[in-house]
Amino acid sequence: MAHAKAGASLPVPNVQALAQTWHGSGEPVPGRYVRTEEMGAGEVVAGCAIRVVDLSRLLDPRSSEEELANLGSACQHWGFFQLINHGVLDEVIQDVKRDMIEFFKLPLEAKKVHAQVPGGLEGYGQSFVFSETQKLDWADMIYLMISPKESRDLRFWPTRTPSFRDSVDRYSAETAKVTASLLRFMAADLGVEPEHLLEAFRGQPQSMRTTYYPPCRQAADVLGLSPHTDATGLALLLHVNDVQGLQIRRDGKWHAVNPLDGAFVVSIGDILEILSNGRYRSIEHRVVVHPDKERISAAMFHQPCPNTTTGPLPELVNRDSGGARYRSMDYMDFMNNFFASKLDGRRSHMDAMRIY
Ligand code: OGA
Ligand code: NI
Repeated sequence: MAHAKAGASLPVPNVQALAQTWHGSGEPVPGRYVRTEEMGAGEVVAGCAIRVVDLSRLLDPRSSEEELANLGSACQHWGFFQLINHGVLDEVIQDVKRDMIEFFKLPLEAKKVHAQVPGGLEGYGQSFVFSETQKLDWADMIYLMISPKESRDLRFWPTRTPSFRDSVDRYSAETAKVTASLLRFMAADLGVEPEHLLEAFRGQPQSMRTTYYPPCRQAADVLGLSPHTDATGLALLLHVNDVQGLQIRRDGKWHAVNPLDGAFVVSIGDILEILSNGRYRSIEHRVVVHPDKERISAAMFHQPCPNTTTGPLPELVNRDSGGARYRSMDYMDFMNNFFASKLDGRRSHMDAMRIY
């Protein structure tokens, strides 16, 4: 059995190409994608309206206090919310959506120019595959380091969609602003100095995972993205083509998320759970695919800077009678743990952090 280098994934078939030839074939879906048992386990609740947080109300002194309570409760009890009136210009969003859609329309050979290289995480391909027998997700993705600019490896950046780099630049700057603003309000809700929370994200590093989920006529038997929590501070998810598929786990059930038009779906990541000493929750989620529509989404991850130690904020630990509920760890070690095992829901890399 082949083994990948720590963190890097084994190469897997291209699912977009596979789906195209398989769809008309009359054959059952290849065995490595069959997840019928997993899909059948646990009830799915349709039409879940996750909490709505309104950034313009947070910024308006007349409504700020009320909206802050709403934000805090969404972070504590849901770990997910949708953000409206976030102030990102529609033009910026439309441009980045267009370029992502165009990228996945390119012929396979043109996309493969940006394929992952052995041992690496970035580029076009898949993550979290470590054995030849592991079940596979019904999706392809392109993962890029976005910010700071020195962290970019332009080999992996699409070039056949010439405006991609510019669109992503503007989108990255806007999402970073929104995130900084959210972190300030979260600090207010947690009762810590905003600078202490922002300091954990100094320089605002970002990476982005854009995922293409092909349609699947056996949609009930496959998973687009295995259950996981986000090993990051905060993720802003953009529905690139308005097809739903995200589900979050709450009280043992899967809830299908139907965000409002134009909203970002915000996910509290593991790092915020740790920084907040467990007040905020990073929640398990997964993606199911559509029987006849492709789905494209883009998650912008906001993470601590490399080479910083991440642990519960001292202000909160001092206030909590039980002390620190999580260990402190070098962020790069934490990420290496995360990328070194398959996605298994709740979640071996966090168990290493928890103090019982
Ligand atoms: C992710 C993720 C959800 C989606 O990339 O971590 O959860 O809807 N994506 O694609
Ligand atoms: Ni996720």
